[in-house]
Amino acid sequence: MTKILAIETSCDETAIAVLEVKGLGISKSFRVLSSVVSSQVALHKKFGGVVPALAKREHQRNLVPVLLKALREAGFLELESKNTEPGKKSVNNSKFIILNSILEREPELLSRIKKSVLNISVPKIDAIAVTYGPGLAPALWVGVNFAKALSLIWNKPVIPVNHLEGHIYTNLLPVNWKIQNSGFRIQNFLFPALCLIVSGGHTELVFIKKYGSYKIIGETLDDAAGEAFDKVAKMLGLGYPGGPKISKLAESFKIKNLKFKISLPRPMIKSNDYKFSFSGLKTAVLYFLQFHTEFLKSKAGKAAVACEFQKAAVDVLVSKTIRAAKEYKVKTLMIGGGVAANKLLRERLASESKNKLLHTTFYLPPTNVTGDNALMIGIAAVFGKNKKTRRELRAEPNLRLGS
Ligand code: KG4
Ligand code: ZN
Repeated sequence: MTKILAIETSCDETAIAVLEVKGLGISKSFRVLSSVVSSQVALHKKFGGVVPALAKREHQRNLVPVLLKALREAGFLELESKNTEPGKKSVNNSKFIILNSILEREPELLSRIKKSVLNISVPKIDAIAVTYGPGLAPALWVGVNFAKALSLIWNKPVIPVNHLEGHIYTNLLPVNWKIQNSGFRIQNFLFPALCLIVSGGHTELVFIKKYGSYKIIGETLDDAAGEAFDKVAKMLGLGYPGGPKISKLAESFKIKNLKFKISLPRPMIKSNDYKFSFSGLKTAVLYFLQFHTEFLKSKAGKAAVACEFQKAAVDVLVSKTIRAAKEYKVKTLMIGGGVAANKLLRERLASESKNKLLHTTFYLPPTNVTGDNALMIGIAAVFGKNKKTRRELRAEPNLRLGS
């Protein structure tokens, strides 16, 4: 049995999870002991998007409280006692010097660690998993340095994890998964598999030969799908993050409302490859609104735009994904990333894969883990590519999944 503490700070969520893995190979099973996510959305909202320097500051503030909460919920939080290995005593002078240098650029985090983490017993975990890319450099570095510091204090190895692998492996959780009934056996994927990753920073189709082996068969040439949702939401005055807001508003639109007619392009839907482009779609919305300002004056007008934009984006994503699944003859199809919470995308992919892909099983991740979280990082630490622990670990903002 292995227990993993996982850390995620690649963007604007500070997250830590503790999970227990039993068994070997495909007969593995998990128990989620805790999964804590502290979102910074309210802070970044004012700026209409994530501000990297602010994200770094918030991660520094949040990591220790989130850690303590995750350990407490997992039943691993013990103050120093005679019978347990104390954190403080395991840090001698030379370790103190290293600790200071690891967190040289995160002084606030360093002082929080000295105040609280050194006073707790070494938790009964076997390894620390951490996202080391892709993501915002200042945000990633805080998590990486925090993992290094904990590794030094507790004498545990660090497993570096690619954030996108985390999104892929949320599909191992049953679609109706809830943290309350956290014990589960993993689903058995048949390979080869295909995953459509759709998030705020990425849109790519990933061919998965086996666990940990990836090839990107197509990706966006410009904006990511989530980015386009966020930018269009901004044009409609809906606020950040825009994905869920567009989706909700689009649902309120009555197709029969002939007063508000709008038709947007489906960029690259017919191109003979698996590349995407969402920047053109976003610009098409911008131009449309410049010429049809009346759409911005009522909820129905905005809903018409949200509905057509969402349909256009989903049409392109679904059409290319289904075509790729056919061409590559995959046995498993899945989606991951923040936009994988989108109801229309989930419904359309489910129905089209049922009708058009007779030999492919389609998986959907539970919607409570499509956004950034640390549980997915812990799962990917077990199934992903980077199983090796590393001494020299760096944040890699442009890390890729494969060629
Ligand atoms: O994966 P994620 O949490 O962070 C990144 O790694 O980027 O994805 C965040 C993105 C945001 O752009 C957000 O607007 C989008 O996912 N998103 C959605 C929905 N929920 C979140 N987009 C469309 N529909 C949704 N329901
Ligand atoms: Zn993400």
